[in-house]
Amino acid sequence: CGTPRVRMTVRSNAVTVVPILTKLQKDCATPLPVLRHVADAMAADMRAGLAVDGGSDLKMILSYVDSLPTGNEKGLFYALDLGGTNFRVLRVQLGGKDERVVATEFEQMSIPQELMFGTSEELFDFIASGLAKFAQEEGGKFHLPHGRKREIGFTFSFPVKQTSIDSGILMKWTKGFAVSGTAGRDVVACLNEAMERLGLDMRVSALVNDTVGTLAGARYWDDDVMVAVILGTGTNACYVERTDAIPKLQGQNSTSGRTIINTEWGAFSNGLPLTEFDRDMDAKSVNPGEQIFEKTISGMYLGEIVRRVLLKMAEAGALFGESVPENLCTPFVLRTPDISAMQQDTSQDLEAVESILYNVAGVKSNLSMRKIIMDVCDTIVKRGGRLAGAGIVGILQKMEEDSKGLIFGKRTVVAMDGGLYEHYPQYRRYLQDAVTELLGWEISKNVVIEHSKDGSGIGAALLAATNSQYEHDF
Ligand code: GLC
Repeated sequence: CGTPRVRMTVRSNAVTVVPILTKLQKDCATPLPVLRHVADAMAADMRAGLAVDGGSDLKMILSYVDSLPTGNEKGLFYALDLGGTNFRVLRVQLGGKDERVVATEFEQMSIPQELMFGTSEELFDFIASGLAKFAQEEGGKFHLPHGRKREIGFTFSFPVKQTSIDSGILMKWTKGFAVSGTAGRDVVACLNEAMERLGLDMRVSALVNDTVGTLAGARYWDDDVMVAVILGTGTNACYVERTDAIPKLQGQNSTSGRTIINTEWGAFSNGLPLTEFDRDMDAKSVNPGEQIFEKTISGMYLGEIVRRVLLKMAEAGALFGESVPENLCTPFVLRTPDISAMQQDTSQDLEAVESILYNVAGVKSNLSMRKIIMDVCDTIVKRGGRLAGAGIVGILQKMEEDSKGLIFGKRTVVAMDGGLYEHYPQYRRYLQDAVTELLGWEISKNVVIEHSKDGSGIGAALLAATNSQYEHDF
C-alpha cells in the first residue's frame, strides 16, 4: 500500500479490474434458493437457541419483558441509550391513555473514540455525567413525592444475559467496542457505581436491548407489532414469543404467556454467501469469527467491505492511476454513509461520486472507474439488504409455524429502526424485494415493515414505567 508499482506491461482497467468485479458479483449473489436457505437456517437456529443456552449461534436471550406497554403508563421517566457511536439521554412525561406522550426532551452526545477502547469506569463515568447534566436541566419543573427516585429505562445495545428486568451481565462487546472490565459484569451495577461516584440518586427500573425498546415503543401505538429489527451500526432483531415455545424456560411461564426474545441475530452465520473480503475483514477485526451476519449486512461494515474491494482493484490494475492512493489503505476510511451518498448520484458524469472519492479517499477517478465503483457498492448493498430481508422472513416463518395463521393470515408489523435502514433507499428496496420474493405477493401484503424512528428511547422509558417500583398517580 502507498508505494508506486512498476509494471512491465500497461494493462487496461477493463482487463485487470472487471474480472474482480465479476467474481465479487458471483460470490455475493443471493438468488431465491440462497435466501430461502438463510431464512430456513435462521428459523432452525432460533429453535436450537430456545431449546438450551448455547444451543446455536443465536443466543435467544430472555428479555424479562413479559408485558408490553398498554397506553396507561403515567409519570416522569428517563431513558439512557448506549449502543453505537452516540449516547442519548431522554426525559419523557407520560400522561396515560388519553394524553399519551405529553412531552419529551432529549440530548445526544457522540462517544469519544478513546472511550470505546478504555476502561469500564471511564465509559460509565461518561454516561453517568451526561445523565447528571441532563437531569440537572430538569430544574424545578417536576416534583416527585418525597423519597421517590427518578427511574430510568436503560437501553444497552450489546449482548447481555439478563438476570431480571433490571439487571444483566455483558456477554461480550460488539460493533468495535473493546472496553476492558465490563464483560462478565452486571451493567446496571456498573452504571449504579458511576452514579454513586457522582452522587446521582436515580434508579434503573428496566434494562433493555435497543430492539426490545423499539418493539415496546412501536407496540405502544400499534397492537400488530410482533417483531423489531435494528439496521444501524450493528444489527439485531427481537420478537414476541410464546413462553410454552421456549424449552429452556423449563415451564416458568409468565402471567401473559408471552415474552420478548432478543435473538442477537448478528451472530448468525449459517449459509451466508461470503467473499475473501469478508474473511479478511473479519480476521482483522476486534472480534474475529464473531458477528458474521452483522459484518455482512450492517452499517459499520458495508463501507469497509467496499474499501477492501477497491483496494484490491487498485493493487491489481490502474484503477486509480499508477500508485495505490494512500488513504485507501486506511481501514474504515470509506463509511457506509459515503457509499450511500455515492449511490444517490444520478448525474451522467457521476460528479458527486467523483468528489466523494476525492474527499474521502484522496482518489482521482475517471467516469469508467466511477461506474465500476458504483457496481461494487451496489453488489455489497444488494447482498446486505436481501440477506436482512431473508432474516426477517426466517423469524416470521418460525412464528407462523408455531401459531398457524396468526402471523401470515393477518396484518403483522415489523418495527424497524437504525440509520442504515433510514438513510439508504437502495438497501431498503433490496430488503423489501427479498421479503416479497420469499413470501409471495399475497402473504407479503400482510407483513408491514414500518420505520419506527428513535422508538427505542420512548420504549425504554415505557418499560421503566411498566416495571416501576412505585405507584404512578401523579
Ligand atoms: C449489536 C448488538 C446488539 C444490538 C445491535 C443493534 O449486534 O450485539 O445487542 O441490538 O448491535 O444495535
